[in-house]
Amino acid sequence: MTNVTIFGTGTMGSAIAGVLAAGGVEHIGSDGTGTISGDIVVLAVPYTALADIAAKYSDQLAGKIVVETTNPLDFSTFDSLVVADGSSATAELASALPASKVLKGFNTTFAATLSSKKVGDLATTVLIAGDDDDAKRTVVELITAGGVRAIDAGALSRAHELEAMGFLQLTLAAGEKISWTGGFATVE
Ligand SMILES: NC(=O)c1ccc[n+]([C@@H]2O[C@H](COP(=O)([O-])OP(=O)(O)OC[C@H]3O[C@@H](n4cnc5c(N)ncnc54)[C@H](OP(=O)(O)O)[C@@H]3O)[C@@H](O)[C@H]2O)c1
Repeated sequence: MTNVTIFGTGTMGSAIAGVLAAGGVEHIGSDGTGTISGDIVVLAVPYTALADIAAKYSDQLAGKIVVETTNPLDFSTFDSLVVADGSSATAELASALPASKVLKGFNTTFAATLSSKKVGDLATTVLIAGDDDDAKRTVVELITAGGVRAIDAGALSRAHELEAMGFLQLTLAAGEKISWTGGFATVE
């Protein structure tokens, strides 16, 4: 039985849960009890929560696939990322959780496009990055089973580019150049 624990029951956590449920994931839980039952853990929380979660749950997260979804913007200015140049929230989390299989995922797809499975007329595509090929394959298969395209976008180091994409997409939507139901799409 595939068991996924999602931290965060907000906009993104709910949309991701919907995709996984559509794909037949039998058990999707939240972190409510303080005990993580899932073999796969999705962190649909703000960037600012990652360090606390890593500190509190590092033992429980050891050996598990951890998919982090954040766009680490400076939301006071909407003009920069808050991670060090060349780094990423994902790289920071991987350093804090050396025994976990940390992946980047979902940050370049607005929640509405996960639910609709469409960006305009095109299929929504989730981009996944990380250094563990088996972990990426597992997550790509779960998302695909839920009716949303997913692609292995490369190594953990690609999380830097994914966060740059997510940053740009957010500024375009916040500036009303695109809608929150739109965004970047990937064509095969
Ligand atoms: N929304 C999107 O379209 C979208 C797209 C791509 C990426 N993302 C990323 O997805 C993440 C979540 O965004 P969202 O739009 O879903 O935000 P949201 O609707 O505000 O939900 C955030 C969730 O995180 C929880 N949370 C906050 N601090 C926490 C902590 N320390 N420990 C555990 N849970 C905590 C919140 O719980 P409480 O309500 O109890 O505080 C809430 O359930 C963000 O990093 C965002 O950058 C969002």
